[in-house]
Amino acid sequence: MPATSVIGLQWGDEAKGKVVDLLTSHHDIVVRYQGGNNAGHTVKFGGRTYKLSLLPTGILQQCVKSVIATGVVVSPGAVLKELDGLLEGGQDCSDRLLISDRAHVIFPWHVLEEAGFEKLRGRSAIGTTMRGIGTCYREKMGRFHAVRMGDILDRDILAAKVREISPIKQRLLDAVDPDGPRLNADAIIEEYSAYADRLRPMVIDTTSYLLDSLEQGKRLLFEGAQGSLLDIDHGTFPYVTSSSSSGCGIHSGSGVPERAIGRMIGVAKAYTTRVGGGPFPSELDNAVGERIRRAGNEFGTVTGRPRRCGWLDAVATRYSARFSGVDGIAIALLDVLSGFDELYICEAYEIDGNRTRDMPSRCEDLAKAVPVLRQVPGWKEDITGITRFEDLPAAARMYVNTVSELVERPVDLVSVGPDRCQTIVLNPALFPSETVKH
Ligand code: GDP
Ligand code: IMO
Ligand code: MG
Repeated sequence: MPATSVIGLQWGDEAKGKVVDLLTSHHDIVVRYQGGNNAGHTVKFGGRTYKLSLLPTGILQQCVKSVIATGVVVSPGAVLKELDGLLEGGQDCSDRLLISDRAHVIFPWHVLEEAGFEKLRGRSAIGTTMRGIGTCYREKMGRFHAVRMGDILDRDILAAKVREISPIKQRLLDAVDPDGPRLNADAIIEEYSAYADRLRPMVIDTTSYLLDSLEQGKRLLFEGAQGSLLDIDHGTFPYVTSSSSSGCGIHSGSGVPERAIGRMIGVAKAYTTRVGGGPFPSELDNAVGERIRRAGNEFGTVTGRPRRCGWLDAVATRYSARFSGVDGIAIALLDVLSGFDELYICEAYEIDGNRTRDMPSRCEDLAKAVPVLRQVPGWKEDITGITRFEDLPAAARMYVNTVSELVERPVDLVSVGPDRCQTIVLNPALFPSETVKH
Protein backbone atom coordinates (compact mmCIF):
# COMPACT_ATOMS: atom_id res chain seq x y z
CA MET A 1 0.00 0.00 0.00
CA PRO A 2 1.49 3.35 -0.98
CA ALA A 3 2.08 6.29 1.34
CA THR A 4 -0.58 8.76 2.49
CA SER A 5 -0.10 12.43 3.25
CA VAL A 6 -2.09 14.97 5.23
CA ILE A 7 -1.53 18.67 4.62
CA GLY A 8 -3.29 21.90 5.59
CA LEU A 9 -5.08 23.87 2.87
CA GLN A 10 -5.43 27.17 4.74
CA TRP A 11 -3.19 29.17 7.12
CA GLY A 12 -2.62 26.30 9.57
CA ASP A 13 -4.60 24.77 12.45
CA GLU A 14 -7.02 23.01 10.10
CA ALA A 15 -7.16 19.89 12.36
CA LYS A 16 -4.34 18.03 10.62
CA GLY A 17 -3.45 16.39 13.95
CA LYS A 18 -6.89 14.83 14.25
CA VAL A 19 -6.85 13.51 10.67
CA VAL A 20 -3.32 12.11 11.03
CA ASP A 21 -4.35 10.38 14.25
CA LEU A 22 -7.33 8.76 12.53
CA LEU A 23 -5.04 7.34 9.86
CA THR A 24 -2.10 6.35 12.05
CA SER A 25 -3.09 2.83 13.07
CA HIS A 26 -3.11 1.86 9.38
CA HIS A 27 0.46 2.99 8.87
CA ASP A 28 3.85 1.88 10.18
CA ILE A 29 5.70 5.20 10.17
CA VAL A 30 4.52 8.80 10.63
CA VAL A 31 6.84 11.45 9.20
CA ARG A 32 7.22 15.17 9.89
CA TYR A 33 9.22 16.66 6.99
CA GLN A 34 9.17 20.48 7.44
CA GLY A 35 8.62 23.19 10.01
CA GLY A 36 9.55 22.69 13.63
CA ASN A 37 8.12 23.45 17.03
CA ASN A 38 6.04 26.26 15.54
CA ALA A 39 3.39 23.57 14.90
CA GLY A 40 0.71 22.66 17.42
CA HIS A 41 -1.34 19.58 16.59
CA THR A 42 -4.17 18.50 18.86
CA VAL A 43 -5.47 14.97 19.21
CA LYS A 44 -8.34 13.86 21.42
CA PHE A 45 -9.35 10.32 22.34
CA GLY A 46 -10.16 8.24 25.39
CA GLY A 47 -11.17 11.37 27.28
CA ARG A 48 -7.68 12.87 26.97
CA THR A 49 -6.29 15.72 24.89
CA TYR A 50 -2.72 15.60 23.56
CA LYS A 51 -0.90 18.60 22.11
CA LEU A 52 2.09 17.84 19.91
CA SER A 53 4.46 20.40 18.53
CA LEU A 54 7.68 18.94 17.11
CA LEU A 55 6.93 15.26 17.64
CA PRO A 56 4.89 13.56 14.91
CA THR A 57 1.35 12.74 16.01
CA GLY A 58 2.11 9.04 15.48
CA ILE A 59 4.23 9.11 18.65
CA LEU A 60 1.04 8.41 20.63
CA GLN A 61 0.70 4.93 19.14
CA GLN A 62 2.96 2.18 20.37
CA CYS A 63 3.53 0.12 17.25
CA VAL A 64 4.27 3.09 15.01
CA LYS A 65 7.65 4.71 14.38
CA SER A 66 7.82 8.48 14.28
CA VAL A 67 10.35 10.24 12.10
CA ILE A 68 11.55 13.84 12.19
CA ALA A 69 12.99 13.99 8.71
CA THR A 70 15.67 16.16 7.09
CA GLY A 71 13.53 19.16 6.17
CA VAL A 72 12.53 19.87 9.78
CA VAL A 73 14.39 22.44 11.88
CA VAL A 74 14.99 20.86 15.27
CA SER A 75 15.15 22.47 18.67
CA PRO A 76 16.76 19.60 20.64
CA GLY A 77 15.53 21.03 23.94
CA ALA A 78 11.98 21.13 22.59
CA VAL A 79 12.14 17.47 21.48
CA LEU A 80 13.30 16.38 24.91
CA LYS A 81 10.72 18.52 26.69
CA GLU A 82 7.94 16.91 24.69
CA LEU A 83 9.32 13.40 25.26
CA ASP A 84 9.64 14.11 29.00
CA GLY A 85 6.06 15.42 29.08
CA LEU A 86 4.80 12.18 27.54
CA LEU A 87 6.93 10.18 29.99
CA GLU A 88 5.35 12.03 32.91
CA GLY A 89 1.99 11.02 31.49
CA GLY A 90 3.12 7.38 31.56
CA GLN A 91 4.32 6.96 27.95
CA ASP A 92 7.99 6.27 27.22
CA CYS A 93 8.18 7.15 23.52
CA SER A 94 11.93 7.62 23.04
CA ASP A 95 12.41 4.24 21.33
CA ARG A 96 9.73 5.10 18.74
CA LEU A 97 11.39 8.31 17.57
CA LEU A 98 14.01 8.79 14.85
CA ILE A 99 15.59 12.13 13.93
CA SER A 100 17.49 12.95 10.74
CA ASP A 101 21.22 13.54 11.09
CA ARG A 102 20.84 16.09 8.27
CA ALA A 103 18.12 18.16 9.99
CA HIS A 104 19.24 21.66 10.97
CA VAL A 105 19.44 22.68 14.62
CA ILE A 106 17.84 25.72 16.25
CA PHE A 107 20.12 27.61 18.67
CA PRO A 108 19.38 30.41 21.15
CA TRP A 109 20.71 33.04 18.70
CA HIS A 110 18.00 32.07 16.19
CA VAL A 111 15.28 32.81 18.71
CA LEU A 112 16.89 36.04 19.96
CA GLU A 113 17.54 37.31 16.44
CA GLU A 114 13.94 36.63 15.42
CA ALA A 115 12.64 38.54 18.43
CA GLY A 116 14.89 41.49 17.51
CA PHE A 117 13.85 41.56 13.85
CA GLU A 118 10.15 41.16 14.56
CA LYS A 119 10.40 44.15 16.89
CA LEU A 120 12.19 46.18 14.22
CA ARG A 121 9.45 45.38 11.69
CA GLY A 122 6.92 47.10 13.95
CA ARG A 123 3.46 47.25 12.37
CA SER A 124 4.49 45.01 9.47
CA ALA A 125 5.76 42.23 11.78
CA ILE A 126 4.98 38.73 10.51
CA GLY A 127 3.66 37.71 13.93
CA THR A 128 5.82 34.58 14.08
CA THR A 129 5.71 31.95 16.79
CA MET A 130 9.14 33.19 18.02
CA ARG A 131 10.68 29.73 17.86
CA GLY A 132 13.65 30.68 15.66
CA ILE A 133 12.17 28.84 12.69
CA GLY A 134 12.76 31.48 10.00
CA THR A 135 16.23 32.42 11.20
CA CYS A 136 17.34 28.77 11.29
CA TYR A 137 16.03 28.14 7.75
CA ARG A 138 17.79 31.33 6.61
CA GLU A 139 21.17 30.01 7.81
CA LYS A 140 20.47 26.66 6.16
CA MET A 141 19.73 28.28 2.79
CA GLY A 142 22.67 30.65 3.24
CA ARG A 143 24.92 27.63 4.00
CA PHE A 144 26.78 29.68 6.57
CA HIS A 145 26.57 29.49 10.34
CA ALA A 146 24.40 26.40 10.03
CA VAL A 147 24.62 23.36 12.30
CA ARG A 148 23.00 19.99 11.68
CA MET A 149 21.95 17.23 14.07
CA GLY A 150 24.90 15.08 12.97
CA ASP A 151 27.26 17.92 13.95
CA ILE A 152 26.09 18.22 17.54
CA LEU A 153 26.76 14.51 18.16
CA ASP A 154 30.49 15.30 17.95
CA ARG A 155 31.45 17.60 20.81
CA ASP A 156 34.51 19.00 18.99
CA ILE A 157 32.52 19.92 15.90
CA LEU A 158 29.75 21.42 18.04
CA ALA A 159 32.23 23.45 20.12
CA ALA A 160 34.10 24.74 17.04
CA LYS A 161 30.87 25.84 15.36
CA VAL A 162 29.40 27.51 18.44
CA ARG A 163 32.66 29.37 19.11
CA GLU A 164 32.79 30.56 15.50
CA ILE A 165 29.15 31.60 15.28
CA SER A 166 28.37 33.13 18.70
CA PRO A 167 30.60 36.24 18.51
CA ILE A 168 29.27 37.08 15.05
CA LYS A 169 25.69 36.66 16.24
CA GLN A 170 26.45 38.74 19.32
CA ARG A 171 27.50 41.65 17.07
CA LEU A 172 24.27 41.32 15.14
CA LEU A 173 22.17 41.20 18.31
CA ASP A 174 24.02 44.22 19.69
CA ALA A 175 23.25 46.15 16.50
CA VAL A 176 19.54 45.55 17.07
CA ASP A 177 19.67 46.25 20.82
CA PRO A 178 22.95 47.21 22.55
CA ASP A 179 21.40 46.41 25.94
CA GLY A 180 20.02 43.09 24.71
CA PRO A 181 20.90 39.52 25.72
CA ARG A 182 24.44 38.07 25.86
CA LEU A 183 25.36 34.75 24.27
CA ASN A 184 27.53 32.49 26.41
CA ALA A 185 29.32 30.09 24.05
CA ASP A 186 30.53 27.76 26.83
CA ALA A 187 27.06 27.45 28.32
CA ILE A 188 25.55 26.75 24.88
CA ILE A 189 28.16 24.05 24.19
CA GLU A 190 27.40 22.37 27.54
CA GLU A 191 23.65 22.59 27.02
CA TYR A 192 23.72 21.18 23.48
CA SER A 193 26.25 18.44 24.38
CA ALA A 194 23.85 17.26 27.06
CA TYR A 195 20.98 17.27 24.53
CA ALA A 196 23.14 15.34 22.05
CA ASP A 197 23.95 12.68 24.65
CA ARG A 198 20.27 12.00 25.19
CA LEU A 199 19.24 12.19 21.54
CA ARG A 200 22.21 10.20 20.11
CA PRO A 201 20.36 6.84 19.90
CA MET A 202 17.57 8.46 17.86
CA VAL A 203 19.69 10.29 15.29
CA ILE A 204 20.06 8.36 12.03
CA ASP A 205 20.02 8.72 8.25
CA THR A 206 16.23 8.94 8.03
CA THR A 207 16.22 9.19 4.22
CA SER A 208 17.73 5.71 3.85
CA TYR A 209 15.49 4.44 6.63
CA LEU A 210 12.34 5.69 4.89
CA LEU A 211 13.38 4.43 1.46
CA ASP A 212 14.34 1.00 2.90
CA SER A 213 11.02 0.88 4.76
CA LEU A 214 9.10 1.60 1.56
CA GLU A 215 10.96 -1.22 -0.21
CA GLN A 216 9.99 -3.53 2.64
CA GLY A 217 6.33 -2.66 2.07
CA LYS A 218 5.98 -0.47 5.16
CA ARG A 219 3.19 2.13 5.05
CA LEU A 220 4.24 5.74 5.46
CA LEU A 221 2.07 8.64 6.61
CA PHE A 222 3.34 12.18 6.03
CA GLU A 223 2.17 14.79 8.52
CA GLY A 224 2.26 18.33 7.19
CA ALA A 225 2.70 21.25 9.55
CA GLN A 226 1.37 24.79 9.04
CA GLY A 227 -0.78 25.15 5.90
CA SER A 228 -0.34 25.60 2.17
CA LEU A 229 -1.06 29.35 2.34
CA LEU A 230 1.94 29.69 4.68
CA ASP A 231 4.23 27.97 2.12
CA ILE A 232 7.43 29.94 1.50
CA ASP A 233 7.05 29.76 -2.31
CA HIS A 234 3.32 29.56 -2.94
CA GLY A 235 1.86 31.16 0.19
CA THR A 236 0.92 34.75 0.98
CA PHE A 237 4.52 35.97 1.04
CA PRO A 238 6.01 37.52 3.16
CA TYR A 239 3.35 36.56 5.73
CA VAL A 240 4.31 32.91 5.56
CA THR A 241 6.53 30.45 7.39
CA SER A 242 10.01 29.63 6.07
CA SER A 243 9.42 26.08 4.83
CA SER A 244 7.53 24.30 2.06
CA SER A 245 4.42 23.71 4.13
CA SER A 246 2.26 22.60 1.20
CA GLY A 247 2.32 19.22 -0.52
CA CYS A 248 5.37 20.50 -2.40
CA GLY A 249 7.62 19.98 0.63
CA ILE A 250 7.14 16.25 1.10
CA HIS A 251 9.74 15.05 -1.39
CA SER A 252 12.46 17.59 -0.55
CA GLY A 253 11.88 17.36 3.20
CA SER A 254 11.79 13.59 3.52
CA GLY A 255 13.76 12.27 0.54
CA VAL A 256 10.81 10.07 -0.41
CA PRO A 257 9.80 10.52 -4.07
CA GLU A 258 6.37 11.96 -4.70
CA ARG A 259 5.28 8.92 -6.73
CA ALA A 260 5.26 6.90 -3.47
CA ILE A 261 2.25 8.88 -2.27
CA GLY A 262 -1.02 7.14 -3.00
CA ARG A 263 -3.37 9.76 -1.63
CA MET A 264 -2.88 13.29 -0.48
CA ILE A 265 -5.60 14.54 1.86
CA GLY A 266 -5.97 18.30 2.22
CA VAL A 267 -7.55 19.43 5.49
CA ALA A 268 -9.67 22.57 5.58
CA LYS A 269 -11.75 24.08 8.33
CA ALA A 270 -15.39 24.71 7.45
CA TYR A 271 -14.43 28.39 7.89
CA THR A 272 -11.03 30.09 7.87
CA THR A 273 -8.59 31.13 10.59
CA ARG A 274 -5.24 32.84 10.60
CA VAL A 275 -2.73 33.61 13.38
CA GLY A 276 -0.29 36.46 12.97
CA GLY A 277 -0.16 39.16 10.31
CA GLY A 278 -1.03 39.24 6.63
CA PRO A 279 -4.06 39.80 4.40
CA PHE A 280 -7.20 37.70 4.96
CA PRO A 281 -9.97 38.72 2.52
CA SER A 282 -12.85 36.80 4.15
CA GLU A 283 -11.93 37.89 7.70
CA LEU A 284 -14.80 38.76 10.03
CA ASP A 285 -13.37 41.37 12.35
CA ASN A 286 -16.75 41.71 14.04
CA ALA A 287 -19.28 39.94 16.28
CA VAL A 288 -19.72 37.07 13.79
CA GLY A 289 -15.96 36.41 13.84
CA GLU A 290 -16.02 36.59 17.63
CA ARG A 291 -18.87 34.07 17.71
CA ILE A 292 -16.87 31.64 15.53
CA ARG A 293 -13.77 32.18 17.69
CA ARG A 294 -15.69 31.30 20.82
CA ALA A 295 -17.55 28.33 19.31
CA GLY A 296 -14.36 26.93 17.76
CA ASN A 297 -12.15 27.80 20.73
CA GLU A 298 -9.86 29.53 18.27
CA PHE A 299 -6.81 30.29 20.36
CA GLY A 300 -3.32 29.19 19.24
CA THR A 301 -2.05 25.81 20.49
CA VAL A 302 1.55 27.07 20.57
CA THR A 303 1.27 30.74 21.52
CA GLY A 304 -2.27 31.01 22.93
CA ARG A 305 -2.94 33.98 20.62
CA PRO A 306 -6.57 34.51 19.52
CA ARG A 307 -6.92 33.32 15.93
CA ARG A 308 -8.45 35.67 13.37
CA CYS A 309 -11.67 34.11 12.01
CA GLY A 310 -13.60 34.46 8.76
CA TRP A 311 -15.82 32.69 6.26
CA LEU A 312 -14.42 29.81 4.27
CA ASP A 313 -12.29 31.20 1.47
CA ALA A 314 -12.85 28.84 -1.47
CA VAL A 315 -10.55 30.89 -3.74
CA ALA A 316 -7.59 30.37 -1.42
CA THR A 317 -8.52 26.76 -0.58
CA ARG A 318 -8.97 25.79 -4.26
CA TYR A 319 -5.61 27.40 -5.04
CA SER A 320 -3.96 25.33 -2.27
CA ALA A 321 -5.65 22.11 -3.30
CA ARG A 322 -4.47 22.61 -6.87
CA PHE A 323 -0.81 23.46 -6.33
CA SER A 324 -0.40 20.98 -3.48
CA GLY A 325 -1.79 18.19 -5.67
CA VAL A 326 -4.49 17.17 -3.22
CA ASP A 327 -6.69 14.19 -4.16
CA GLY A 328 -9.46 14.67 -1.59
CA ILE A 329 -10.38 17.02 1.23
CA ALA A 330 -11.27 16.64 4.90
CA ILE A 331 -13.63 19.35 6.14
CA ALA A 332 -13.17 19.93 9.87
CA LEU A 333 -15.01 21.84 12.60
CA LEU A 334 -18.30 21.81 10.69
CA ASP A 335 -20.08 21.74 14.08
CA VAL A 336 -18.77 25.24 14.85
CA LEU A 337 -21.06 26.66 12.15
CA SER A 338 -24.27 25.25 13.72
CA GLY A 339 -26.80 27.88 14.78
CA PHE A 340 -26.35 30.49 12.04
CA ASP A 341 -29.41 31.52 9.97
CA GLU A 342 -27.26 31.78 6.90
CA LEU A 343 -23.62 31.14 6.07
CA TYR A 344 -21.28 32.56 3.45
CA ILE A 345 -18.48 31.13 1.34
CA CYS A 346 -16.03 33.35 -0.54
CA GLU A 347 -16.19 32.13 -4.15
CA ALA A 348 -14.25 34.90 -5.90
CA TYR A 349 -12.29 38.09 -5.22
CA GLU A 350 -12.92 41.50 -6.63
CA ILE A 351 -9.64 43.37 -6.98
CA ASP A 352 -9.71 46.90 -8.42
CA GLY A 353 -13.14 46.15 -9.87
CA ASN A 354 -12.03 42.91 -11.58
CA ARG A 355 -13.51 39.60 -10.51
CA THR A 356 -11.09 36.64 -10.23
CA ARG A 357 -10.83 33.11 -8.85
CA ASP A 358 -7.02 33.25 -8.92
CA MET A 359 -4.81 34.14 -5.95
CA PRO A 360 -2.85 37.33 -6.58
CA SER A 361 0.89 36.98 -5.98
CA ARG A 362 1.29 40.35 -4.22
CA CYS A 363 0.11 40.79 -0.67
CA GLU A 364 -0.80 44.37 -1.52
CA ASP A 365 -3.35 43.07 -4.06
CA LEU A 366 -4.69 40.38 -1.71
CA ALA A 367 -5.16 43.09 0.92
CA LYS A 368 -7.39 44.96 -1.56
CA ALA A 369 -9.45 41.87 -2.44
CA VAL A 370 -13.15 42.23 -1.67
CA PRO A 371 -14.65 38.79 -1.09
CA VAL A 372 -17.53 37.81 -3.38
CA LEU A 373 -19.70 35.82 -0.99
CA ARG A 374 -22.13 33.05 -1.84
CA GLN A 375 -24.95 32.86 0.69
CA VAL A 376 -26.04 29.37 1.74
CA PRO A 377 -28.64 28.32 4.32
CA GLY A 378 -27.49 27.55 7.85
CA TRP A 379 -28.76 24.85 10.22
CA LYS A 380 -29.77 24.97 13.87
CA GLU A 381 -29.19 21.38 14.98
CA ASP A 382 -26.29 20.19 17.13
CA ILE A 383 -24.36 17.89 14.76
CA THR A 384 -21.58 16.79 17.13
CA GLY A 385 -23.04 13.32 17.59
CA ILE A 386 -23.73 12.56 13.93
CA THR A 387 -21.69 9.77 12.35
CA ARG A 388 -23.30 9.32 8.92
CA PHE A 389 -23.39 11.90 6.16
CA GLU A 390 -27.03 11.21 5.37
CA ASP A 391 -27.98 12.05 8.98
CA LEU A 392 -26.64 15.60 8.73
CA PRO A 393 -29.26 18.35 8.30
CA ALA A 394 -29.92 19.05 4.61
CA ALA A 395 -28.31 22.51 4.89
CA ALA A 396 -25.12 21.02 6.37
CA ARG A 397 -24.94 18.47 3.54
CA MET A 398 -25.47 21.28 1.07
CA TYR A 399 -22.68 23.27 2.73
CA VAL A 400 -20.22 20.36 2.42
CA ASN A 401 -21.22 19.74 -1.21
CA THR A 402 -20.82 23.44 -2.05
CA VAL A 403 -17.31 23.48 -0.57
CA SER A 404 -16.44 20.36 -2.57
CA GLU A 405 -17.77 21.94 -5.76
CA LEU A 406 -15.90 25.24 -5.23
CA VAL A 407 -12.64 23.60 -4.19
CA GLU A 408 -13.06 21.06 -7.01
CA ARG A 409 -12.15 18.05 -4.90
CA PRO A 410 -14.16 15.14 -3.43
CA VAL A 411 -14.70 15.06 0.33
CA ASP A 412 -13.00 12.14 2.13
CA LEU A 413 -14.07 13.06 5.65
CA VAL A 414 -16.14 15.54 7.67
CA SER A 415 -15.21 16.26 11.28
CA VAL A 416 -17.95 17.35 13.68
CA GLY A 417 -16.01 17.49 16.95
CA PRO A 418 -12.46 17.14 18.27
CA ASP A 419 -12.76 13.51 19.37
CA ARG A 420 -11.80 10.58 17.15
CA CYS A 421 -15.36 9.32 17.20
CA GLN A 422 -16.83 12.65 16.04
CA THR A 423 -16.06 11.85 12.45
CA ILE A 424 -18.11 11.21 9.32
CA VAL A 425 -16.24 9.07 6.82
CA LEU A 426 -17.08 9.52 3.15
CA ASN A 427 -14.17 7.51 1.76
CA PRO A 428 -14.12 4.25 3.74
CA ALA A 429 -11.20 2.90 1.71
CA LEU A 430 -9.02 5.49 3.48
CA PHE A 431 -10.55 5.43 6.94
CA PRO A 432 -11.71 1.86 7.61
CA SER A 433 -14.45 1.64 10.23
CA GLU A 434 -12.32 0.33 13.11
CA THR A 435 -10.21 3.52 12.98
CA VAL A 436 -13.15 5.79 13.63
CA LYS A 437 -14.63 4.03 16.61
CA HIS A 438 -18.19 5.26 17.09
P1 GDP B 1 -3.62 21.39 13.44
O1 GDP B 1 -2.51 22.33 13.76
O2 GDP B 1 -4.01 21.45 12.00
O3 GDP B 1 -3.36 19.98 13.89
O4 GDP B 1 -4.90 21.93 14.25
P2 GDP B 1 -4.91 22.40 15.79
O5 GDP B 1 -4.84 21.21 16.66
O6 GDP B 1 -3.93 23.50 16.03
O7 GDP B 1 -6.33 23.09 15.86
C1 GDP B 1 -7.52 22.40 15.63
C2 GDP B 1 -8.38 22.48 16.90
O8 GDP B 1 -9.69 22.07 16.59
C3 GDP B 1 -7.92 21.55 18.01
O9 GDP B 1 -8.21 22.16 19.24
C4 GDP B 1 -8.77 20.31 17.82
O10 GDP B 1 -8.95 19.55 19.01
C5 GDP B 1 -10.06 20.91 17.37
N1 GDP B 1 -10.87 20.12 16.46
C6 GDP B 1 -10.47 19.23 15.51
N2 GDP B 1 -11.52 18.82 14.78
C7 GDP B 1 -12.61 19.44 15.30
C8 GDP B 1 -13.98 19.46 14.95
O11 GDP B 1 -14.44 18.82 13.99
N3 GDP B 1 -14.81 20.24 15.71
C9 GDP B 1 -14.36 20.99 16.74
N4 GDP B 1 -15.22 21.72 17.41
N5 GDP B 1 -13.06 21.01 17.09
C10 GDP B 1 -12.21 20.26 16.36
P1 IMO C 1 0.15 24.14 12.68
O1 IMO C 1 1.04 23.01 12.23
C1 IMO C 1 -0.98 28.34 12.35
C2 IMO C 1 2.22 31.18 11.43
C3 IMO C 1 2.61 32.18 12.50
C4 IMO C 1 3.05 33.35 11.62
C5 IMO C 1 3.73 32.66 10.45
C6 IMO C 1 5.25 32.56 10.56
O2 IMO C 1 -0.31 24.03 14.07
O3 IMO C 1 -0.94 24.34 11.68
P2 IMO C 1 6.89 31.07 12.05
O4 IMO C 1 7.04 30.96 13.53
O5 IMO C 1 6.56 29.77 11.38
O6 IMO C 1 8.02 31.76 11.38
O7 IMO C 1 5.60 32.04 11.84
O8 IMO C 1 3.18 31.35 10.40
N1 IMO C 1 2.27 29.76 11.86
C7 IMO C 1 1.19 29.02 12.09
N2 IMO C 1 -0.12 29.34 12.08
N3 IMO C 1 -0.60 27.06 12.58
C8 IMO C 1 0.71 26.70 12.56
O9 IMO C 1 1.12 25.43 12.65
C9 IMO C 1 1.67 27.71 12.35
N4 IMO C 1 3.02 27.73 12.30
C10 IMO C 1 3.37 28.97 11.99
O10 IMO C 1 1.52 32.52 13.31
O11 IMO C 1 1.93 34.03 11.12
MG1 MG D 1 -2.08 23.91 15.07
